[in-house]
Amino acid sequence: MAKIVSLCKRRGFVFPSSEIYGGLKSCYDYGPLGVELKRNITGEWWRTMVHEREDIVGIDASIIMHPAVWKASGHVDGFCDPLVECLECHARFRADKAPRLPPGSEVAYRDGKTREKKRGKVEARGYVCPECNSPSLSPERMFNLMFRTNLGPIESEESTVYLRPETAQAMFVNFQNVFTSYRLKPPFGIAQVGKSFRNEITVKHFIFRSCEFEQMEMEYFVEPGTDEEWFAYWRSERLKWYLSLGLSSEKVRFREHAPQERAHYAKASGDVEYLFPWGWDELEGIANRTDFDLKRHQESSGKKLEYVDPNREDPRTGAKPFRFLPYVVEPAAGATRSVLAFLCDSYDEEPPSEARAEGRTVLRLHARLAPVKVAVFPLVRKDEWLTGKAREIVKEFWRSGTNSFYDEKDAIGRRYARQDEVGTPFCITVDGQTREDDTVTIRYRDDMRQDRIKVADAVEIVRKKILE
Ligand code: GAP
Repeated sequence: MAKIVSLCKRRGFVFPSSEIYGGLKSCYDYGPLGVELKRNITGEWWRTMVHEREDIVGIDASIIMHPAVWKASGHVDGFCDPLVECLECHARFRADKAPRLPPGSEVAYRDGKTREKKRGKVEARGYVCPECNSPSLSPERMFNLMFRTNLGPIESEESTVYLRPETAQAMFVNFQNVFTSYRLKPPFGIAQVGKSFRNEITVKHFIFRSCEFEQMEMEYFVEPGTDEEWFAYWRSERLKWYLSLGLSSEKVRFREHAPQERAHYAKASGDVEYLFPWGWDELEGIANRTDFDLKRHQESSGKKLEYVDPNREDPRTGAKPFRFLPYVVEPAAGATRSVLAFLCDSYDEEPPSEARAEGRTVLRLHARLAPVKVAVFPLVRKDEWLTGKAREIVKEFWRSGTNSFYDEKDAIGRRYARQDEVGTPFCITVDGQTREDDTVTIRYRDDMRQDRIKVADAVEIVRKKILE
């Protein structure tokens, strides 16, 4: 992780937020390469979930929603974590994430003031402070994760609004608007990519868990009774998506939740997990939310949220029309968390070999995700013809919508190394031979192979390789 965090800072993927003021815990800024990687991930999600399907449409809803939404969804009363304070080192942490030990077992830790070694016994609740190991802890206090603010100039209970802790609720409250305006019929889905906010108590592992993050969520509305099939379908589709973008198959899995792990609204749920450097952890949650949310919003708003099929008989009464509240299957992925998974998975260090005197660091990102697709170099900086030609080629790539980079600084080997380190899959070099036959070399990042290609074919060759 330390290497990835350092690469992110050095090469402009991710910076600590407001760094000149010492940074802000759990907040991050995406730099020139990070924003490209994140946009490529959300773009791929949108392509496969929305553009390549007839049954799913997108929305982009307001981050601040009516406070009644969060009352009805259960977030105002129930979106809480158990907060505990260590009485020795005063660290605050989540009780459910603390290291668990058998009650009564002996532990060693340091006194918060004198730093002397102490021994103590684990209390009946069975956990200790994750920072200093002390069993001396405050009582658990439930802490709501939603950020509150006020709409308008007066700070009062009536003006309280929340920054959304998930994008999902916008799909439920817009359910009627979308299916009537777009004439959709279950099964159909509503997708959204956007920011969510949670006042997380424990923030660690870089961008894995932050207070401001981006989600890629889709609510799939189905006829009750077909929900279990759709749950199985989405579980398999979502796993395939990560694999299609190059995540290592032995590092991705689906883990079904035990009943006690499920959210209050879920009939079945589980996580797509990735083997991060600290172990298996959640990348995406997939849940069968039943009709919980539509039912709660229907009751709370007084507006009918049923789907009415005039051509079908109600199977219970035999009469037309058939009215039902759809069940919802939800694949809820983290975009910022995916950035970290793809970075961890693609990071590679190659030691020096017979073929190469120097080792290299390479990000083996899928070409679709790579922030820069192609780098174009003149072999020699001082030759005006070579630099002019290389600039012409890079402009051709820009015109075709391919994010490309021109570089003439340092020796060619250093330029290749700089591109390998940020995952650029193709490098094109203009050299003396270009002047004679209008060909250039294309060098492939992963095996460093070089081919000679015609300048006129370069854009098309790269375009095809990206789509592979
Ligand atoms: N609508 C359901 C929902 O929000 P979730 O499991 O709480 O479910 C879905 O969140 C995904 O959002 C997670 O799998 C994770 O990828 C991402 N996520 C949640 N909290 C996050 C945080 N604090 N920082 C970064 N990503 C987060």
